[in-house]
Amino acid sequence: MMKRLVFMSGLLFAVMLASPVFAADGKALVGSNKCGSCHQMSGPAVTTIAEIMKRKAPDLFYSGNKFNKEWLVGYIQAPTTIRPAGTVYLNNIKVEGDTDVVANVPKCASKLSAGDAGAVADYLMTLKEDMPTGTAKIGKFKKAKAKSFMFKGEACNACHVDPRKGGGISCPTFEGIGTRLNPDWLYSFLKNPQHWDPKVWMAKRDFEEKDLQLMVNYLSSLK
Ligand code: HEC
Ligand code: HEC
Repeated sequence: MMKRLVFMSGLLFAVMLASPVFAADGKALVGSNKCGSCHQMSGPAVTTIAEIMKRKAPDLFYSGNKFNKEWLVGYIQAPTTIRPAGTVYLNNIKVEGDTDVVANVPKCASKLSAGDAGAVADYLMTLKEDMPTGTAKIGKFKKAKAKSFMFKGEACNACHVDPRKGGGISCPTFEGIGTRLNPDWLYSFLKNPQHWDPKVWMAKRDFEEKDLQLMVNYLSSLK
């Protein structure tokens, strides 16, 4: 009887060791680190300007579509500034004399250890909306043509900073955007920004397929 009990508990112990219950749980870590106190962790996105103005941080409920996982793992250990004037720039503009100055831009509060960051990134990559894949055709492209299209024709840098061209600060920087974002998501967002964020202040334009591919290639090359 005693022998059998010892055998049984030994077996139970072996089973416990083999099961992944000891691995860090990404979803639980998102909860205990209160990522959801600033980020919207489930959809749908807000649909009014009033709600946008209350947004503290970018939506993460489609992280699995948007980000490259390797970038995510690094960022949530040591966040950098992506939006020079913050998530909603109008909330961080103060008047000094007769000029606007950007003040007190909040940063991402995430400071995960390497192990926890891996688990959280794995979990975030499971947060996905329906999105076609294989749309971005990354290959050879003409950089000068892309720049002329984006910065002379479309004035993308009225709002976005380009690492070489410079530009506005009301939106995410293009610096390192190719390391950060999934090319298929870039394609989808450029095609229709409001599909992802109904009240985003970037206009939908009816780009031709070749111009979409040109922009996706240029942005993806910024690493
Ligand atoms: C106190 C508020 C706050 C908390 C808590 C917070 N963040 Fe952030 N997070 C931000 C802000 C603000 C930004 C935008 C920074 C920028 O663009 O420069 C951001 C940006 C991000 C981004 C980049 C998003 C994008 O679209 O560019 C990721 C990923 C992210 N946070 C993950 C996390 C995770 C994971 C946690 C929890 C472990 C977390 N954040 C907790 C405020 C917060
Ligand atoms: C009127 C200002 C404005 C203009 C002009 C503009 N955008 Fe945007 N763009 C935005 C805003 C606002 C966002 C979303 C901001 C956020 O995620 O915090 C955005 C997001 C993006 C994103 C996703 C960025 C990210 O890092 O999450 C890409 C890519 C992008 N824009 C490319 C372009 C391109 C290419 C052009 C020119 C064809 C352009 N934008 C013109 C305002 C603008």
